Amino acid sequence: MLKGKHIILGITGGIAAYKCATLTRLLIKAGAEVQVIMTPNAKQFIQPLTLSTLSGKPVISEFFTANTGQWNSHVDLGLWADALIIAPATASTIGKMANGVADNMLVTTYLSAKAPVFVAPAMDLDMMRHPSTVRNLELLRSYGNHIIEPAEGELASHLIGKGRMEEPENIVKALDAFFAASEDLQGKRVLITAGPTVEKIDPVRFISNFSSGKMGFALAEECASRGAHVTLVAGPVALKTDSANIERVDVTTAVEMHDAVMQRLPQSDAIILCAAVADYRVENVASSKIKREKTENPVIQLTPNPDIAKAVGQAKRDDQVTVGFALETDNENANAQGKLERKNLNFIVMNSLRDKNAGFQVDTNKITIFTDKGDVINGECKSKRAVAHDIVDVLYQYLSKHEN
Ligand code: C5P
Repeated sequence: MLKGKHIILGITGGIAAYKCATLTRLLIKAGAEVQVIMTPNAKQFIQPLTLSTLSGKPVISEFFTANTGQWNSHVDLGLWADALIIAPATASTIGKMANGVADNMLVTTYLSAKAPVFVAPAMDLDMMRHPSTVRNLELLRSYGNHIIEPAEGELASHLIGKGRMEEPENIVKALDAFFAASEDLQGKRVLITAGPTVEKIDPVRFISNFSSGKMGFALAEECASRGAHVTLVAGPVALKTDSANIERVDVTTAVEMHDAVMQRLPQSDAIILCAAVADYRVENVASSKIKREKTENPVIQLTPNPDIAKAVGQAKRDDQVTVGFALETDNENANAQGKLERKNLNFIVMNSLRDKNAGFQVDTNKITIFTDKGDVINGECKSKRAVAHDIVDVLYQYLSKHEN
């Protein structure tokens, strides 16, 4: 699974850094391209020359190369990577990653990277147990990072306990298993709606809502990174997509979104209706700007928009999986369950505006999933990408049942 994969190996200043020569060698042997980034302290434990020789690429450590003045772009590196492994990860680097302290090339690249991140901690047993390390690792988990737990055994301090960096062979196995599982949507076609719709009142005014599209775009990226072909029907949003697996269809109104979805429905295996579609549009859109002087108390007559989710629910085949969203302000569970049934969805993702850090605009979300089988799955507050991962895990379960 590692063949052709772009791996950033981030090495920090712990004694286990010496094992990174083996780790680099194993990754290269498995067919990966490896770019090593070292923190300044890591160079005290292992020579960059060893790693550049094994990886076949100059090691990066500083923001720019001193003798040439060439700038090392952490953004480009972050986008290049299919995975980041931080091994060994010291308490200090874990703390910086958890709190966004981007004072070196490695943590800066970590913050720019969109790829999955693996963290293999290595430290003394008491450091490992310290509440700050425990909390920082918990924070990394909440960002969707994968922690490769350290093993028990004799440590550099000669104390015995948990804190030995996992062996390079096992780190490679964990990565390999991740890539095998992570392409679980290979060959599937997923149709996603995202963002708001915009309904014109006159040539300069409109009715819309606060949806940023972040949740729908995170879902599109998650599905694409797991091998699916994604069609993303997006209302007007400021977001970009850069995955080759995402075909983007930009629309403005609910009617346009409805038509784009219904046209692509037959060839889709799964449909995720994440858009905040305006329930109504203006019946008679004014052809020129409504003037204050001419219309003292304007009345805007509204007419219902198509309910895309309901239309999909009525038209879908049994082998197609449909997922809806319910953003609620009160009566959350009952409202979500009502929509699950009315719209004939396989499952619905509920979030409440009463939860801090959930819903519109923000980068995090806290969800509860209600399934058509009566299951209720409660989630923690996580980044929208991590939430997308959990949602797509449930979607995968449905898709694989339909295959059997
Ligand atoms: O009824 P409500 O708008 O709250 O339902 C939310 C769910 O229905 C979401 O999945 C949303 O994307 C979808 N929906 C839709 N078309 C509409 C309204 C909502 O697809 N016109």
